[in-house]
Amino acid sequence: MRLASRLTAIKPSPTLALNARARALAQAGEDVVSFAAGEPDFDTPQFIKDAAVEALRTGFTKYTATAGIPELRAAISEKLRRENRLGFTPEQVLVTCGAKHALYDLFQALLNEGDEVILFSPYWVSYPEMVQLACGRPVVLETREEDGFAPDPDALRRALTPRTRAVVFNSPSNPSGAVISRDRLADLGHALHHHDCLVVTDDIYEKLLYVEGPFINVTNAAPFLAERTVVINGMSKAFAMTGWRLGYAAGPRALIAAMQTIQDQSTSNAPSMVQKAALAALQGPADVLAPMVSEYRARRDLFVEGLNRIPGLRCRLPEGAFYVLPRISGLFGRAFRGTPLTSSVQVSELLLDHYRLAAVPGLPFGAEGFLRLSFATSRANIEKGLKRLGEFVAELE
Ligand SMILES: Cc1ncc(COP(=O)(O)O)c(C=O)c1O
Repeated sequence: MRLASRLTAIKPSPTLALNARARALAQAGEDVVSFAAGEPDFDTPQFIKDAAVEALRTGFTKYTATAGIPELRAAISEKLRRENRLGFTPEQVLVTCGAKHALYDLFQALLNEGDEVILFSPYWVSYPEMVQLACGRPVVLETREEDGFAPDPDALRRALTPRTRAVVFNSPSNPSGAVISRDRLADLGHALHHHDCLVVTDDIYEKLLYVEGPFINVTNAAPFLAERTVVINGMSKAFAMTGWRLGYAAGPRALIAAMQTIQDQSTSNAPSMVQKAALAALQGPADVLAPMVSEYRARRDLFVEGLNRIPGLRCRLPEGAFYVLPRISGLFGRAFRGTPLTSSVQVSELLLDHYRLAAVPGLPFGAEGFLRLSFATSRANIEKGLKRLGEFVAELE
């Protein structure tokens, strides 16, 4: 079958693929430990479910305005003002089918062929693919583990060209869990002062912070960027609502209108009853998150300590999100049952095949030499998985 040529450079999501394989093995009765999940293992809080049920019960099941119901757009605008100190009117908010689709709408609305989008590696796997799907060119700036994966403002300055249309920030980060400090964000913001490009801040992990708050994004640290900032966020990670598919973008009016047009001609509105649930989540008690965050923190500590006890592995303590990114390149060159280890993809495959451990390779995140392990799973699973990883390493020649 002849397919669209713009798809030739696009790869399917490796995390979703690994998850599917791990799930299939588990369904076949195998004892799989999975660190592949990019989603909370907690259930969606009951009061949020109740709001959706109430919407269904009262027949709130029809199309809504593409951009979302007015009360939800207003609640998001209010949330951004109250929690993030950012001023976006409700008309500057677009409700989407997940933050992922907000990003998709954004790149489709923004990019012409060959336009550049600056990403910092390690990056979320979908950024480069989505940029390319919009015929743009991802420009990747590497960050270093030794610097806490903080981007270098001078490297950013040097990477800017007349074709740079946007720079994407994601702190706390998927996959590194790194949080960029306020001072560094301010320096990065200053690097963009005289360059007319969009600032995209993907704040989806803002609530999962293990350092003293408050959460700060690049525009908080460099407020002169406010007029050309797009905030991407959603309900998935903070409210354990991944399957509900509800995200949003807030940004310059003309851009949001263009994104809405794309949505008009593709998904239309996010599901109506889910919008009611999101409204309840945003207006509900703030303390539903506190027990989840403290449990994540305990798991993170357990995980990092255990990883650093395995000879040849090294792992920094992530300040946010629910991922650890241990360096495994220290194992490269050693052999597993006669085969020398050379890549994160190979290690990931060996771990699933021989130790029934699902660990996502760093390569598709621009982090070769690392594995991405999610701690959105129980402490018992973390201990069991650490044991398997330790046994795998002990078996290496
Ligand atoms: C950095 C980042 N941004 C956006 C998303 C998309 O979230 P959703 O589409 O579930 O709202 C994810 C999900 O894994 C993510 O890790």
